[in-house]
Amino acid sequence: MLQDGTVHVHEPDATPTRTRLIVDVDTGIDDALALLYLVASPDAEIAAALCTAGNVPVDQVTVNTLSWLEVCGRPDIEVAAGSQLPLVAPLMTTEDTHGPQGVGYAELPPPSRSRSARSAAEAWVELTREQPGELTGLVTGPLTNLALALRIDPDLPLRLHRLVIMGGCFHHPGNTTPTSEWNVAVDPEAAKVVFDAFSIVPPERRPIVCPLDVTESIEMYPEHVSRIAEIVGLAPSGELSPDAPRGTRSTAEAPLVRHITDALRFYMEFHRDQGIGFLAHVHDPFAAAVALGAVPYTTRPATVDVELDGRLTRGTTVADRSGMWKRAPNADIVAGTRPAEFFDHFVERVGSYIRDLNLPPSKN
Ligand code: RIB
Ligand code: CA
Repeated sequence: MLQDGTVHVHEPDATPTRTRLIVDVDTGIDDALALLYLVASPDAEIAAALCTAGNVPVDQVTVNTLSWLEVCGRPDIEVAAGSQLPLVAPLMTTEDTHGPQGVGYAELPPPSRSRSARSAAEAWVELTREQPGELTGLVTGPLTNLALALRIDPDLPLRLHRLVIMGGCFHHPGNTTPTSEWNVAVDPEAAKVVFDAFSIVPPERRPIVCPLDVTESIEMYPEHVSRIAEIVGLAPSGELSPDAPRGTRSTAEAPLVRHITDALRFYMEFHRDQGIGFLAHVHDPFAAAVALGAVPYTTRPATVDVELDGRLTRGTTVADRSGMWKRAPNADIVAGTRPAEFFDHFVERVGSYIRDLNLPPSKN
């Protein structure tokens, strides 16, 4: 059985429709950028932000997400905490990548409100039951919460309009083991539960998977932050210069620009220490833009499964593009994009939002 291995081309929607999202995060520097981008997007509405252990433990992810949404001017968005642990694996976190608190050098004000009374898994189930067919799921962290929700309600995939996952790598080196990507490697069992469960949805609603193959081409540089600051109306500063001392803090008067700069400096120093360069792979805001249909990308259908037992390959996502397993495709894997167009869109949208957020009330 040869599958339709056609490459599908997706161009930005000329008249964007409103996308109402459940966002599941492990905030995380690039998760924070994804949340800011969505809050800045007139065509996006966040129904809830659900927190998963990943970059840092789930309680820290939850505090980061509460604080970050408040700094972004959206303290109204529900934030629910998920499981402390993956389904089976011991918890693995990566403070060396995202900083001791998970937001680089940024020092966010403590949240003034509490997390939701319900768990992340309960929120997945209840929101999709209340709004069947209306919600797009965007997961930019490990898939633990969604897997737990699927255990409660196996029909959930049929009530989700679409699912977009930042995760996996297919014909590209891993960032956690030689063949596995972080979000899948933290909880491989959860990733397998999700890919298996979403095999029941019709082809036009297959999960869209944004793997490292493409997200590692989304390289954010200091100049992108400078362009955001310029739109906000701030004088250029050399604080994100690669030549500035390690740990240099921003003095930008706009809090969001200051926090973005401080978060990204840590992330860019990490990438430089890895020999990649003074840049940041911003995986999650790209996945968010795909969820909105706001950027160009191509996809190829495949049947995706996850290796659980390999001594060397546990957590590896495997894509069958030609029907060798005799199983129908269960994913549309993003195969390419135009990074410069993503950044033009991202910088303009985020910069404009911060500028208008910081306008004195008389100018609103
Ligand atoms: O592998 C990259 C992914 O892992 C990103 O979502 C990053 O935030 C981490 O969660
Ligand atoms: Ca993430």
